[in-house]
Amino acid sequence: MKTVRLGIAGLGHVGCGLIELVERQAELRLPGKIEIVGVSARSRSRNRPVDISGYTWFDDAATLAEHPDVDVFVELMGGSDGPAKFAVEEALKAKKHVVTANKALIAMHGQALEQLAQDNDVDLMFEAAVAGGVPVVRVLRDSLSGVAIRRVSGILNGTCNYLTTQMLDTGRSYDQVLEEAQRLGYAEADPTLDVSGMDAAHKAAILASIAFTADLDFNKVSVKGVDTVELIDLNLADRLGLRIKLITEGILTDDGVVCRVGPMAMPVDHPLARVDGALNTVRVEGDPLGAVTLTGPGAGPGPTASAVMGDVSKLFTPTARSPFGRAPHHTACSFIAAKEAERSAYFLRVKLADKPGALASLTEALAAHDVSVDKLLQESADDSDVSPVAIVTHVCSRGDIETASARVSALEASVGAPQVIPIDAVNE
Ligand SMILES: NC(=O)c1ccc[n+]([C@@H]2O[C@H](COP(=O)([O-])OP(=O)(O)OC[C@H]3O[C@@H](n4cnc5c(N)ncnc54)[C@H](OP(=O)(O)O)[C@@H]3O)[C@@H](O)[C@H]2O)c1
Repeated sequence: MKTVRLGIAGLGHVGCGLIELVERQAELRLPGKIEIVGVSARSRSRNRPVDISGYTWFDDAATLAEHPDVDVFVELMGGSDGPAKFAVEEALKAKKHVVTANKALIAMHGQALEQLAQDNDVDLMFEAAVAGGVPVVRVLRDSLSGVAIRRVSGILNGTCNYLTTQMLDTGRSYDQVLEEAQRLGYAEADPTLDVSGMDAAHKAAILASIAFTADLDFNKVSVKGVDTVELIDLNLADRLGLRIKLITEGILTDDGVVCRVGPMAMPVDHPLARVDGALNTVRVEGDPLGAVTLTGPGAGPGPTASAVMGDVSKLFTPTARSPFGRAPHHTACSFIAAKEAERSAYFLRVKLADKPGALASLTEALAAHDVSVDKLLQESADDSDVSPVAIVTHVCSRGDIETASARVSALEASVGAPQVIPIDAVNE
């Protein structure tokens, strides 16, 4: 039976999860045997949930990466640059296959690393980098290579989805729910990478690049987080039959691929609206498939390590295939910035001072920019005489809603900045 020998750098949540899985390999369905040649992390003496005393320790991840006994270098340190990037480059140059869960590294340098892997005739694999335990990378690259994909969308940050779900379910504010999520381990002590949308953006860019075999240009990805979403937005949207979630999407347009992350509203019966809590989901729409939706645990040591193991298991029969599924005969395709002309219906929430003519001034400001109202809901004024108004607009251009919203913001009756969220219709 063939054996694949691993060098594992990074012994945190995922690294220790992987070691546990290697130790339980008799229960798995691998094509051969897996051995661990050596391990590396920052601190040798740190307490870990697995016993690493039986494994050879390497102070330097790059030395482990190029060790002659290593067949596959597994990078689980994290970070787009620094030691993770250096060790992965050294491994590829030494003709070792690489498996990583590092979305930041792949989003920022994936295509340079792809080139290095191809130059050295080895595989670079990163199933765990997107949606943790949900198998989307190779499904998109391989199983769906017979589909002309139009759009790939999803919920790719479990922390953000947990926050919006909990706010709506419990009626508590963003800050209260975030504090609880940190206590329960659903959010990091420093949640910035998650709530700013950046973590989801890394994953969205990787998926869009695979779906459209496009040159990954992270600078073109538009990123907005959930940190601007208020409880009142979720409640008013709910009364209008909408759910608001942090959604990622990559869309193929005539000019290139638009990739973005931000709060999006959708009808309650939309497939993404029903994905609650810390789950991840990816929805692929294309011809002649229609739509496929994959949902499951997007993080955690076990699910993520299982995705790493899935990649390792593929390396019993390496292919040296482009990790993004690209081939020389594919038409060149680029990421482009989102356009002002793109059209959508919008959920607009405005806080108005409770005085005569306030609502009229709002609808006049919208009409002046060709934004017409489909539905309107006004809450009673609160203790500070501020009355929240939610509007569902008819389809309009992004440029028009943004100028209209700037005008609304400048109204005498308007309190604070309006919330503007695009609405995604169900598109089977
Ligand atoms: N956690 C998840 O659910 C999840 C899901 C999907 C993808 N990922 C990705 O998987 C990777 C690992 O995540 P994680 O949650 O396991 O992280 P983690 O718990 O913070 O562990 C990181 C590990 O890397 C080591 N490390 C960090 N910087 C290092 C350096 N400069 N040199 C050597 N070792 C270094 C740390 O060493 P010490 O232990 O000695 O400090 C630690 O063992 C990241 O790229 C992350 O984005 C994680």
